[in-house]
Amino acid sequence: MDMEKETMIKKIEKLKQEKDVVILAHNYQLPEIQDIADYVGDSLGLSQKARNCKEKIILFCGVHFMAETASILCPDKKVLIPDLDAGCSLSDSLTLAQLKEWKKRYPEAVVVTYVNTSAEVKAESDYCVTSSNAVKIVNSIDKDKMVLFGPDMFLGSYVSRVTGRKNLRLWAGECHVHAAVKPEDIEKARREHPDAKFLIHPECGCVTSCLIDAYDKGEKDSIILSTEGMIKEVEKSKEKEYVVATEKGILHRLSKISPQSQFHLVSEELECKYMKMITLDKVLHSLENEVFEVKVQKEIRERAIIPIQRMVEMS
Ligand code: 13P
Ligand code: SF4
Repeated sequence: MDMEKETMIKKIEKLKQEKDVVILAHNYQLPEIQDIADYVGDSLGLSQKARNCKEKIILFCGVHFMAETASILCPDKKVLIPDLDAGCSLSDSLTLAQLKEWKKRYPEAVVVTYVNTSAEVKAESDYCVTSSNAVKIVNSIDKDKMVLFGPDMFLGSYVSRVTGRKNLRLWAGECHVHAAVKPEDIEKARREHPDAKFLIHPECGCVTSCLIDAYDKGEKDSIILSTEGMIKEVEKSKEKEYVVATEKGILHRLSKISPQSQFHLVSEELECKYMKMITLDKVLHSLENEVFEVKVQKEIRERAIIPIQRMVEMS
């Protein structure tokens, strides 16, 4: 490691102690960010950690909606994000105005939104879900009720197939990184790595065909997984070879868990520019100056916490 990085890490560790800070990082963060974090995980795990942490300040190394969720769950803590521009294309694909309009067309429907949404959109939702609990939560809703599910259409189509629900309406949103993974990319990877185990995130554009394929092969429980689901699967199976269809940042943790395994990313393009905006120098700047604070207006927070709490309690 170069001297400059080493010096920054030392300063970060010192400030963290002095200011009583917990650093939470998503599985897609840069390796050096994951290494300085107190906890690395998926959207659900990070929300649970935020809710239970004792420290005064939460430094969130992830994207804006994740820091917002932490702030909704812990209104008395200072939640910081090192770069306010770390957004999410999926979250941007369903605005408050669009959701209100959609709800007007289906006034009786139950609204289920992915955690990748703004606080305003959560405030208009009945349930919040992540990729690791979407099936369970949708299954818990009265079978006769219409469900509006958004914004990710690929996760939505996966949930619809697994639950067999016909009364699920999908919003046509997507994550620009995962939507690019097409069925032909998976077919090519299957030909190139015939013995590898496949780990596919439900936001991927190939998810429907991959699910059908997985059912045929009898591997439906181990193939389509949230980021933390992938971590657990590798901890358990420790295969020789895996093909991974999600953002490349996860390879750092996977390789640490099973250094003897080979991990092939289904495409080198799988990189989220927003996640990569969080760098060591920005983390240091954030700690030194206690910026940039993410705070949600009381009126929105009081409504947004309801679907988030339902999710955390049911997981
Ligand atoms: P996970 O909840 O599976 O970590 O997914 C978050 C995300 O942003 C995926 O693109
Ligand atoms: Fe959003 Fe996609 Fe980036 Fe995840 S990978 S944070 S869904 S843009």
